[in-house]
Amino acid sequence: MLVLGIETSCDETAAAIVKDGREVISDVVYTQIAAHKEYGGVVPEIASRNHLMKITLVIEEAFSRAGMRLSDINLIAVTSRPGLIGSLLVGINAAGALALAGDKALVEVNHIHGHIYANYIEEDFRFPTLALIVSGGHTELVLMRDHFEFELIGQTLDDAVGECYDKVGRLIGLEYPAGPELDKLAQTGKATYDLPLIYLDKDKYDFSFSGLKTAVLNLVNTKKMRGEEISRADLAASFQHSVVRVLVDKTISAARKFNVKQIILAGGVAANRGLRTAMKAEADKLDDVALTMPSLRYCTDNAVMIAAAGYFQYKTLSK
Ligand code: KG4
Ligand code: ZN
Repeated sequence: MLVLGIETSCDETAAAIVKDGREVISDVVYTQIAAHKEYGGVVPEIASRNHLMKITLVIEEAFSRAGMRLSDINLIAVTSRPGLIGSLLVGINAAGALALAGDKALVEVNHIHGHIYANYIEEDFRFPTLALIVSGGHTELVLMRDHFEFELIGQTLDDAVGECYDKVGRLIGLEYPAGPELDKLAQTGKATYDLPLIYLDKDKYDFSFSGLKTAVLNLVNTKKMRGEEISRADLAASFQHSVVRVLVDKTISAARKFNVKQIILAGGVAANRGLRTAMKAEADKLDDVALTMPSLRYCTDNAVMIAAAGYFQYKTLSK
């Protein structure tokens, strides 16, 4: 089954053609980072305008790289939620128009499901599997007992991890998107600053990151007031340590409790080097639990993952 995936939920305009949920025939991502950089974050109006300008070109490029036409496609999958509403509408309208013109089946995919299925591109799922979703808008632990069965077992009560990375990065003068920059900087420092590890209830799987963000802000302000130097690299490493420790500990503890056979990482922050290394070290200690992480290219927003999720959504719904 050939699926055309379309993704426009935030600041990437993307289209991809994927066979049977994993074989990537073409993969086009136009990133708007440059358009938002000077504002230090995504400006919704600018995002929708850029999607409108690029969507047709990006879809045409996906077809031309694949050497295919609309008539070759069996299904269209488009991100329909969550995301910036004006941006989502651009993708939904484009997908709807193509489905109508080509008389194709259309599925509306949840962006988070897309991030989870980014893992299927390179690895099989082994159920029960536990997904840690860490993106700019979400931080969730989701248990899956089969394809397209999602049980939310924990989530952030305030900020998402990616959002926290972006805000802390900005505070120490890094450019948007600050998450990957902060990750790089953290590799060059040592976790010498005392920042909190916020576990909430140890037996539950909810997260909270706003307290950590405030702790960094207070630390920076106090140092400034005292006229003391701050090591940005050490601060980045300390912040990363506090985030990663809690994410890994909660995930491993949930993996034990639910007896999962696999842990998967999903979302933009799954590209984080500190998180990938620490999760691997701890998952290796568990018996018969596989750890799956998408290639860096499929961690951040793309349309391949939407096509992969759309394929399973369609198969599940048609059962
Ligand atoms: O999944 P994504 O592309 O978009 C959303 O669905 O939100 O995630 C983007 C988020 C941003 O907050 C970005 O700063 C963060 O993922 N991110 C990272 C890294 N790469 C991307 N955060 C920490 N370390 C990274 N290496
Ligand atoms: Zn995303």
